[in-house]
Amino acid sequence: MTEPGPFEGAYFADIYGGDYDARNPRYKHRALLSALRLHQPSGSLLDIGCAYGRFLEVAAEEGGYTLSGCDVSEHAAAIAGERLASRDVRVRQGGVLDDPFPGETFDVITMFDVIEHVDDLEAAFASVKTRLTEGGVFAFSVPVYDGPVGVLVEAMDLDPTHVHKIGRDAWLQHAQDHGFRVLRWMGIMRYFLASRVYLHLQTTTLRRHSPAVLVICAPAR
Ligand SMILES: C[S@@+](CC[C@H](N)C(=O)[O-])C[C@H]1O[C@@H](n2cnc3c(N)ncnc32)[C@H](O)[C@@H]1O
Repeated sequence: MTEPGPFEGAYFADIYGGDYDARNPRYKHRALLSALRLHQPSGSLLDIGCAYGRFLEVAAEEGGYTLSGCDVSEHAAAIAGERLASRDVRVRQGGVLDDPFPGETFDVITMFDVIEHVDDLEAAFASVKTRLTEGGVFAFSVPVYDGPVGVLVEAMDLDPTHVHKIGRDAWLQHAQDHGFRVLRWMGIMRYFLASRVYLHLQTTTLRRHSPAVLVICAPAR
């Protein structure tokens, strides 16, 4: 059964300030891909919570993976499907707790700014784990509410669908408690400047000071 959710047109207009592409510059997705490739440079990749499909679009341009995406939002999955129609990318509607690609497993599963929306973290991690191939990796990014800018992150967080507003150590612990070992984690410095320029910088040095983190992990089999 598809999970219910408030992720329709108005939600995306709000969180992307009416300009999805401006908040999703190509270099941001290239940076995320570079981090993934250090652990799993090729194979099948499923982007869960793909929204309008920008990450998949850039991944298709860059090459190297067989790409699939899903989103709990019918609205988002339909737009992603249209945007990616000319590329060899499958997009289906379905959430992390659904099974939009029945019986399939993937070498890479990504959830960028998605898992903090999912109430049942145990079920979400378990679902990802069962959909990974042997040797597969799971990468997720999340906003974090600790560290020197935690108060600011909280104050600027206008997304009412964020269920888990926790710190970086809590996320690392969740991954471990739910059967994953952390391969790498880094901070993401991200800011929206002058309502057009989106900054996205991945950093290991400043990972305890960033407003978001990227965690790359693998099942602790
Ligand atoms: C903040 S947006 C992030 C979208 C995209 N990954 C990105 O980085 O721009 C959150 C996305 O997660 C999707 N989402 C929320 N709950 C989900 C779930 N349980 N399973 C899959 N997608 C979900 C929403 O529909 C939305 O597209």
